[in-house]
Amino acid sequence: MKAELPAKKKTKVRNIQTIIVIYSIIALIMSFDINKIRQDFPILNQKIYNRPLVYFDNAATTQRPQQVIDALNRTYTEYYGNIHRAAHFLADKATLAYEDTREKARNLINAETREQIIFTKGATESINLVAFSYGETFIQEGDEIIVSEMEHHSNIVPWQLMAERKKARIVMLPIDDTGRLLVEKLDSLITDRTRIIAVTHISNVLGTINPVKLIIEKAHARGIHVLVDGAQAVPHLKIDVQELDVDFYAFSAHKMYGPNGVGVLYGKKELLNKMPPYQGGGEMISEVSFAGTTYNELPYKFEAGTPNISGVIAFGAAIDYLQNIGLETIASRENELLNYATSELLKINGLRIYGTQQEKSGVVSFNVEGIHFFDLGTMLDKFGIAVRTGHHCADPLMAHFGIQGTVRASFAFYNTMEEIDRFIDALKKVIAMF
Ligand code: ALA
Repeated sequence: MKAELPAKKKTKVRNIQTIIVIYSIIALIMSFDINKIRQDFPILNQKIYNRPLVYFDNAATTQRPQQVIDALNRTYTEYYGNIHRAAHFLADKATLAYEDTREKARNLINAETREQIIFTKGATESINLVAFSYGETFIQEGDEIIVSEMEHHSNIVPWQLMAERKKARIVMLPIDDTGRLLVEKLDSLITDRTRIIAVTHISNVLGTINPVKLIIEKAHARGIHVLVDGAQAVPHLKIDVQELDVDFYAFSAHKMYGPNGVGVLYGKKELLNKMPPYQGGGEMISEVSFAGTTYNELPYKFEAGTPNISGVIAFGAAIDYLQNIGLETIASRENELLNYATSELLKINGLRIYGTQQEKSGVVSFNVEGIHFFDLGTMLDKFGIAVRTGHHCADPLMAHFGIQGTVRASFAFYNTMEEIDRFIDALKKVIAMF
């Protein structure tokens, strides 16, 4: 039996715990020097139409810190060569740097082994790879794939293409009007023909953070695999693929302050080993003859052709940058920005926010009654405010709300409260013009 602490001692322990928490919060705030961080991003320090640029289109693509730009530059000026293919100095150095990023990506999402990290050209290609190769092995005529209503087109269309080829069926997991995924409906949607569920970790339109662990648990209990589109999640949350027990996880470097044209597919080894190559070419083979070809081992089996060598190397610098700030710090900073922007937006008459769940990332989509989202976005641009307008590659989600599109502001840790004030001020001026 555990001995009880006397009341006086209990109070003392509680006081020490409180002091530790307060000190940790102060340390966190002090370690985040926004002025220093903004200096790392040269593109942010400029004027657009004679007004300071406010970049609120981070869900579409983030900007790069000087450290990433320098890494890209260093690769081309110091050690560029084709990887895994030659015995010379430059190729060796480039190969080591490329493989070093694989290790960094493994560490970032806590994958068990580096073989499970496959470099692609983005989250879209990662999902296409799974839809094709998983489909070839695991999907038969009449099988079902569950896809959520809030998916980006890149997590719908690859499954439709595969379903067409294999004569399979797509089943939609709906959302409610607050932007919550109706996870409880999974129990009735899953049948003995369901093979895989494809779901986003964070909606690029609503910002909703989905309970992917719960979805994975429900799926696994019925012997179903899960692919999670993590494009919006990896730059904002600490991801642990082993803790999630996810089967496939896809993300893009360009949404993580890294170069564009680079992505990652994480997969469970036993599944990846059973799946055929997605593309043929150099690197993915073991031996080639006209009698037949054997394939390379993981991860190279899925990395045909010369990849984006410099991009992958510079992606390593982006991962370092993210980890140096710390994903917990990033999440809490972006939360503050989101909460402030949301409260200010809600003060505007006729403004409706889409996605009102408590668990949200730094994305706010809205419309203003009587004004077309495209007009709002175009006018905001003239005030130096960069937002995205349109359907955000999520037509089914737009259909759910009966709209054609929204204005979307999406925040990154380098944004400031002053920028939100400038955005709100500009928005009010634009609305007043109509
Ligand atoms: N998927 C990106 C967005 O949401 C392009 O803007």
